[in-house]
Amino acid sequence: MGRVIKNISVIGTGYLGATHAACMAELGFDVLGVDVDPEKIEALSRGDLPFHEPGLPELIRKHVDSGRLRFTTDMEGAGSWADVHFIAVGTPQVAGGTAADLTAVDAATAALARSITKDALVVGKSTVPVGTARRLQRLVAEESSDDVEVSLAWNPEFLREGFAVQDTLRPDRLVIGTDAADDEQVLREVYADALTQDTPWISTDFETAELVKVAANAFLATKISFINAFSEVTEAVGGDIRTLADAIGHDTRIGRKFLNAGVGFGGGCLPKDIRALQTRVSELGLDHSMTFLNEVDQINLRRRERAVTLAEQMLGGLPGTRIAVLGVTFKPLSDDVRDSPGLDVANRLYTAGADVLVYDPEGNENAAKRFPRLGYVDSLREAAADADLVVLTTEWNEFKALTPDDLDEVVAVQRLLDARNVLSADQWQAAGWQFAQLGRYY
Ligand code: UGA
Repeated sequence: MGRVIKNISVIGTGYLGATHAACMAELGFDVLGVDVDPEKIEALSRGDLPFHEPGLPELIRKHVDSGRLRFTTDMEGAGSWADVHFIAVGTPQVAGGTAADLTAVDAATAALARSITKDALVVGKSTVPVGTARRLQRLVAEESSDDVEVSLAWNPEFLREGFAVQDTLRPDRLVIGTDAADDEQVLREVYADALTQDTPWISTDFETAELVKVAANAFLATKISFINAFSEVTEAVGGDIRTLADAIGHDTRIGRKFLNAGVGFGGGCLPKDIRALQTRVSELGLDHSMTFLNEVDQINLRRRERAVTLAEQMLGGLPGTRIAVLGVTFKPLSDDVRDSPGLDVANRLYTAGADVLVYDPEGNENAAKRFPRLGYVDSLREAAADADLVVLTTEWNEFKALTPDDLDEVVAVQRLLDARNVLSADQWQAAGWQFAQLGRYY
């Protein structure tokens, strides 16, 4: 296209889109965030975020104030204005199934293509089943006017919740799937200021770009379930899963990251992505290639059951007990409770007859929407007051820093289950606590 990029639109202003829009403004572009939800648009225009992400509200306000970032429901306005359009709408798991729901991606792409009135590049960022980009390329060609030249590229996103801004402004790699060298050049221009001399730039075809994304998440999920499968063994025969992870992690071919055993992975990405990948390969007649991911999923879900069983054993039965659950977001620095292991464990304990009081620094409100019957309190001490058992399910710093002194006088019985393996067993046991961790033999 050989043009200078000035205007960027981001279609979909959820977690990914809002972050991407703010970061594109930070990189110096004029940005329009587009969404079908007027309430969301109004809130974002005021700099209010419907989710918790460190640094993002400040960045949005900065650029709403600078005039470089605007939010709108007007797709047509975006179509006649932007040079590059990022598609960042959600691809959740379909209701009652395991496939990715592409309704929003298809609708947004078609609506966008119909409104484009100047040459443009449409860039997919959503996580999609392999084959989607090529299908959307045809859709864009069908729906856009013959008077304009519109092409498509695929640029998967690897940002982590809690680190979304830094992951977008300083990505550890960029993966660009295109059909034409010119389109790649446009994206080089867009990302120029986010790249260091060493940032890997991987230029490839649509299919590889789509697969890189799901392969990365499948690998991370597999790593977590690998260590959690070993924690089933150390629990049974004796041993310490943390030491085992440290020891194998020193091998740089393996690496220590994502080997933290505990109550397993959750969130809006890893669980749904491994299920959608299995479903997609099965559609392609390749079920056998990804059957191990079913095992990864099962190992992960077994950890939740194990946490409940261990709590039950520690208490000698759940009915009539008072349990404090610390942490119900799927990980720290987030208020996201989607597929959260901690929230699932809290609900199972409640369903089995325990009186459960939950405290999470950011997640109480979202958790209460999902499971209103659980009790929610605003501090760790309130949750632990008169508890027969404290269960640590999300490793917020506040919980990692806990010492027996903090809780000795608060609880009814000195009993703690560390389901994230972040506390020191020696310290708690020395203080007289009945203490257990997932992955440890007692
Ligand atoms: C994940 C990927 O890490 C991102 O690279 C990707 O862009 C994102 O999904 C996505 O597809 O959008 P995220 O869902 O934010 O990011 O969370 P992670 O940091 O990957 O953690 C996932 C889960 O694994 C959490 O529940 C966490 O507690 C758990 N986990 C992580 C462990 O149980 N053990 C570990 O060692 C590491």
